[in-house]
Amino acid sequence: MSKRRVLITSALPYINGIKHLGNLVGSMLTADVFARFQRARGVETLFICATDEHGSTTELAALEAGQDVVTFCAEQHAAQADVCRRFGLSWNHFGRSSNRPNHELTQHFARQLWKNGHLEIRSTKQVYSNADGRFLPDRYVIGTCPHCGYPSARGDQCENCTRVLDPADLIAPRSAISGSSDLEIRDSTHLFLKQSQFVPQLREWIASHKNDWPLLVTSIANKWLDEGLHDRGITRDVEWGVPVPDDIGDGQLKGKVFYVWFDAPIEYIGATWEWAEANNRGNEWKSWWFGEEARDVAYFQFMGKDNIPFHTVGFPVTVMGSDEPWKLVDQLKGFNYINYYGGKFSTSQKRGVFMDTALEILPADYWRYYLIANAPEGSDSNFTWEHFAGVVNKDLADVLGNFVNRITRFCASRFDGRVPGEGAYGEDEHALIAELGKRVPACAELFERAEFRKAAAELRAIWVAGNEYLTHAAPWTTIKTDRDRAAASVRLGLNLVHIFSHLAWPVIPAMARQIHETIQPLGDRVTIPWPSGSLDEELDQLEAGQPIRSPQVLFAKITDEQIMEWTARFGGTET
Ligand code: MF3
Ligand code: ZN
Repeated sequence: MSKRRVLITSALPYINGIKHLGNLVGSMLTADVFARFQRARGVETLFICATDEHGSTTELAALEAGQDVVTFCAEQHAAQADVCRRFGLSWNHFGRSSNRPNHELTQHFARQLWKNGHLEIRSTKQVYSNADGRFLPDRYVIGTCPHCGYPSARGDQCENCTRVLDPADLIAPRSAISGSSDLEIRDSTHLFLKQSQFVPQLREWIASHKNDWPLLVTSIANKWLDEGLHDRGITRDVEWGVPVPDDIGDGQLKGKVFYVWFDAPIEYIGATWEWAEANNRGNEWKSWWFGEEARDVAYFQFMGKDNIPFHTVGFPVTVMGSDEPWKLVDQLKGFNYINYYGGKFSTSQKRGVFMDTALEILPADYWRYYLIANAPEGSDSNFTWEHFAGVVNKDLADVLGNFVNRITRFCASRFDGRVPGEGAYGEDEHALIAELGKRVPACAELFERAEFRKAAAELRAIWVAGNEYLTHAAPWTTIKTDRDRAAASVRLGLNLVHIFSHLAWPVIPAMARQIHETIQPLGDRVTIPWPSGSLDEELDQLEAGQPIRSPQVLFAKITDEQIMEWTARFGGTET
């Protein structure tokens, strides 16, 4: 068997709108840090993401934007790809669920399920609009809320009083597309997936992961099974989706498309296919997903907790029901939410901080570090500007930035900007090396287990140890009496700067590069590898006489004025 390969997917962001920081940390960012860490360890890694594009929500959003859905999705995909790139998200491919590979695969899975007897055709009642000549999904029906009198309540829910509705409840219902009130109830045929048959198999599979999945994940999965698994409608009367092929249900499903939650997870595979096509790798995509060839693949998924049911039950049923050896997830990392001043981040209400505006005010690495250090793993976490500024100012500016600045400036002024070769490491140096000899492997272990908060805490502890060493060794004092002693401290300090950049790269890749460049140019090397040697070697590897550069200020502190300005701009009062 060849070496282990790592496949990573992050939950696919919905196509409409730029995502907020809560979406980011709960899927794409943590997946990115994990992918970078694996690459830094020299593991062959494939990190896949895509936009989740189909369904009535997208159709409506396009309508509101005054665009046809194809143009709308193309623009939104490009906008998300751009902001994600600027956030340093390093996927191998950022695909689109509307692309051909997903269409082919979705139809393939549906055919397998049909052939294996897991699908059933059923008649359901749906609202039909004569003026539009089409069925209307619940949220396309608008009318007066029977509870609060709000005049533009949607057929699925009233936005004003938040009550859940049925289109039939609405007073004076009309079409969201044309405004026509010429509506009627008609029969509509749909495909249902008989999920209940899979309960024993699902239980067994979930139980087999009870020791390696977070409790959050197994408990949500089991709760779904305990509540009884209903058969699931997997088709819809909308236009923007993967069409049901003619050979399923002999013509009774003409014009229907698959439900977006049926095709979206299949796009994990589809986007891998897109990656292979884009990189001339032929059938290689299949070796990550299918049969014997994929045996050496460890598959990790990252997602927010609302996605857990679809990944522990919905998608696995599709895979199991296909009766083909597609890979199931090995490690499923689910996250809680980040709240904004105790309330929800909300895309529809534009509440909180979004990826594009975040980058307007600060570089990506400030956000990346803060979010990883406060990843909502054990419970929800809470964003406030004061907390954010505290973390950035303390950890990044006072600890990491200050360390790099102190030692490189001192080296520039007293050792001619070159790594000093004189002086041997003494007791203090060996004590620090021994401490890092424990902490660095511990940190790696935490990243390996995808425990981000703890990994970031270990990283910070390593930076703090470096600072304490330097304060204690005080080369600015010893140089007055013992130049060799000071030289040894400076040499260790510079080696520390170097190793800090290697350790920090998965979390703050741009800053890590900048820090590394003060010690050694990286050229076009993309990955900064995790240290693999003993710490004795790692911390004495810079060559005597080698020139170094002094960095500009690495992290500027966030000021009270900025906190005030941003609180006013983004809202920040408790809800
Ligand atoms: N778009 C969904 C969300 O943001 C996630 C889809 S994940 C997938 O909640 F696996 F279904 F693609
Ligand atoms: Zn290096």
